[in-house]
Amino acid sequence: MVNIKTATEIEKMRVVGALAAEQLEMIADYITPGVSTGELDRICHRYTIDHQKATPAPLNYRGFPKSICTSVNHVVCHGIPSDEKILKDGDIINIDVTLIKDGFHGDTSKTFIVGNGTVRGERLVQTCKQSLNLGIAAVKPGAQLGDIGFAIQSYAEKHRFSIVREYCGHGIGRVFHDEPQVLHYGRAGTGMTLQPGMIFTIEPMINAGKPAVKLLPDQWTVVTKDHQLTAQWEHTILVTDTGYEILTHRCDDDLPRIG
Ligand code: MF3
Ligand code: CO
Ligand code: CO
Repeated sequence: MVNIKTATEIEKMRVVGALAAEQLEMIADYITPGVSTGELDRICHRYTIDHQKATPAPLNYRGFPKSICTSVNHVVCHGIPSDEKILKDGDIINIDVTLIKDGFHGDTSKTFIVGNGTVRGERLVQTCKQSLNLGIAAVKPGAQLGDIGFAIQSYAEKHRFSIVREYCGHGIGRVFHDEPQVLHYGRAGTGMTLQPGMIFTIEPMINAGKPAVKLLPDQWTVVTKDHQLTAQWEHTILVTDTGYEILTHRCDDDLPRIG
């Protein structure tokens, strides 16, 4: 069963969503060649606790050892920050933050380009971002989950990129990963019908090469099997009476917060 949030719960999701968004805006200035992903994690951790008076949800979640996920180049998702991993010019890095405030979760990520991007990296990152935007634009009461997956998949594949199948968006609220599963591929006119008050993430992972992924021995880091580049963007979305509200909206977003 997918839960429908009350007005009070929605207000709390707006608060935590705004904090998660603000954190991605904050970290942008630190993403430069020479910085380690371990340092980015420490900056986010301190900002969450000291400044935002919130809790980093990934820390100790099912044993995850850090406060954010940092996924560089061929790392699809769940990359573990480390002092040994130093960013270099032309890298792409997804920073995924999830905060808990007043019992509710806000989950969002974006892929940043480090220094001067490569043509291929920029194209992948932009296509992934646009696929998320098209998925969000499909959200309205009466639409179906398959409409979201279809919008994402058809755009990404038109650009000759591939969709990761193993990980999906998810319902979110008091629980980090709840029902429904939001697939980033599928057929229009299939799947659960959206209703006002549902809140879920949409978080497409798009590969430059083949869709296959593998899990590294650390049991967290997911990489592309062919070691080609991969990107991801994520927002937490509320279904409104007329469309969508992006609860983790940032100033650099292309879509309006409410649509
Ligand atoms: N934030 C990720 C998501 O979008 C989940 C990270 S789980 C962690 O669902 F344990 F790796 F942090
Ligand atoms: Co998520
Ligand atoms: Co996330």
